Amino acid sequence: MRIDVVTIFPEFFSVLDVSLLGRGRQKGLVETHVHDLRDFTYDRHRTVDDTPYGGGAGMVMKPEPWGEAFDRVLGEHDESAPPSEAIVVFPSPAGERFTQAVAHELADASHLVFACGRYEGIDSRVAEHVASRAMVRELSLGDYVLNGGEVAVVAMLEAITRLVPGMVGNPESIVEESHGDGGLLEYPIYTKPASWRGLDVPDVLRSGDHGKVAAWRHAQAVERTRRVRPDLLPGADAS
Ligand code: ADE
Repeated sequence: MRIDVVTIFPEFFSVLDVSLLGRGRQKGLVETHVHDLRDFTYDRHRTVDDTPYGGGAGMVMKPEPWGEAFDRVLGEHDESAPPSEAIVVFPSPAGERFTQAVAHELADASHLVFACGRYEGIDSRVAEHVASRAMVRELSLGDYVLNGGEVAVVAMLEAITRLVPGMVGNPESIVEESHGDGGLLEYPIYTKPASWRGLDVPDVLRSGDHGKVAAWRHAQAVERTRRVRPDLLPGADAS
């Protein structure tokens, strides 16, 4: 998988060198390229923003540097060329919710491009123009506002890349976790010692009866989901 990130803060993405993602890059499973949006400006101040048409607070990111950045990562614009295979993600609090299901969809892509907006956002014509060349997804991490897309992209990248085959040592750990198959939150987990500070591991987990263990875990997952996130249960009203 190839990943391109366009940002005015390339240094944010030094975290890609560590942990699972770093190992995935070493193994050649993912290839990441971080681009500084200001490299696509031509004025002395390397300007990337301007005041909004129609008035209002804050600044808006100018379309020209973004156009050139996309020409670099998607290839020069050519209307007769077939659409790019890339999926272009615009992180935004106004986007559709980024979920585990979306992470799975994006983990199947061969090329992902992330466009990190700052200030009040990017001139709307940029996403419209890119949509004529590639698939565009506007994605929100949750119902809160961050100062820019960078932190959201780091979180999305970790969620997506761990689903790329070969990234996680034991693929079963991905199936059983929260938001995996079945859509329930994960059951409580324990390791040794069996007794710690007066708290004991439930007997069933030490019984060796796999059927009973599976039934207990499922019941716990249903109970936790009902208590913490009832909206995830089948039949819950999504609204
Ligand atoms: N940029 C600012 N806030 C965001 C959010 N909640 N999700 C994704 N990108 C964002």
